[in-house]
Amino acid sequence: MTETDRQSTKATQASHATTTGMVGGGFYDENSAPQWRAIEAVFPLITNAMATLEVEGEGDGTIRLADFGCSEGHNSIAVMAEALDTLLPRTPRSIQTIHSDLPTNDFSKLLLNIRSDGRSVFGSEKVFSCVVAGSMYDQLVPDGSLHLATTFNAIGFLSRRPLSQLPDYIFPNGPSAVRSNGKVSETDHQTFAELAKQDVASFLKVRARELVPGGKLIAQVFGRDSDASTSDGIYDLLNDAVLAFVENGEISRDAYARYYQPVYMRSLEELTTPATDPSYAVSDLFKLEQSMSYEVPVPFNEAFQRNGNLTEYAAQYVDFFRAFTEAVLRNALPDSPGRDKLVNKVYTKALELLMANPDAYPFRYIGVAMLLTRKA
Ligand SMILES: C[S@@+](CC[C@H](N)C(=O)[O-])C[C@H]1O[C@@H](n2cnc3c(N)ncnc32)[C@H](O)[C@@H]1O
Repeated sequence: MTETDRQSTKATQASHATTTGMVGGGFYDENSAPQWRAIEAVFPLITNAMATLEVEGEGDGTIRLADFGCSEGHNSIAVMAEALDTLLPRTPRSIQTIHSDLPTNDFSKLLLNIRSDGRSVFGSEKVFSCVVAGSMYDQLVPDGSLHLATTFNAIGFLSRRPLSQLPDYIFPNGPSAVRSNGKVSETDHQTFAELAKQDVASFLKVRARELVPGGKLIAQVFGRDSDASTSDGIYDLLNDAVLAFVENGEISRDAYARYYQPVYMRSLEELTTPATDPSYAVSDLFKLEQSMSYEVPVPFNEAFQRNGNLTEYAAQYVDFFRAFTEAVLRNALPDSPGRDKLVNKVYTKALELLMANPDAYPFRYIGVAMLLTRKA
């Protein structure tokens, strides 16, 4: 089955989800080096969680670590390996890693990653792995069964579309100041900001049921600070590319008005508020241990600065955002025989626009993260 065939079978969207997932077949894994940089920056939170997790006194049951929004698994497996480095020497207990994503995720690739040569990728006889399908905003494992819950670069994907249209831009945070190629009203922005907080609260409420008392939770995601947003550049470029086909009539004005990427870039305060503000009904369940807002260098920016290779830079930049935007764009377009071709043309147009004017679309990666402990 070709990638196109595979994608077109993925039409059914899970409840409490607004995408069918990343581009599969290894494409997300190959184009997610920036996300990995953002994960590496929070290693201290992972080490802290695994060094302070209570592993004595609860008998010899299995310790369970779950990652929500794991995609094809390359980064999710590397995260678990990092957690296991600290945890394995601390306990003789068996450990299970649980990798979870939407039912429409490419689980075949994930399973191959977990056990490619017939043995656990983690190289320990004490470690066993499994996959679980479902929305991270729902309870997915039994009550009191988890010791660590994580999510990386995923909780920005909203649980639902709060507005039927966003008429003048394709992303809830609006365009960058550099490009300023559209607008999102303050009222619409606030609608997304509030849903993003409710989503964190929903995630924490269901994880609170799943976690043992003293269990740890790490929530990390792309976001924004006072200086920049991780949406700058990439969505300006995608917006310009889509508009080129609105102007030539291949995408209707109506389809453009209805299409937006249902993702929100949070500030650190927007990530932590649901955990600490009693009005979200979660603050009694968790203690906030650590939080951080940070920026990481982007590998394709670094390479471009080093070698000046514009063709390579543009290809890596576009493939990077294609991996996580394509499914939503495809599903926003009318289901016609020419749809896949049109999707390809949009990303080819993005490549051309970036090659012609690389300074118009600067991209930076801001991350926000928090470590919580489940209260007894
Ligand atoms: C950008 S990828 C991040 C993958 C990996 N955690 C990483 O950091 O490289 C976002 C993932 O979140 C998943 N996702 C989006 N909405 C979700 C939801 N409601 N429940 C579970 N997973 C979701 C997508 O399918 C995708 O695999």
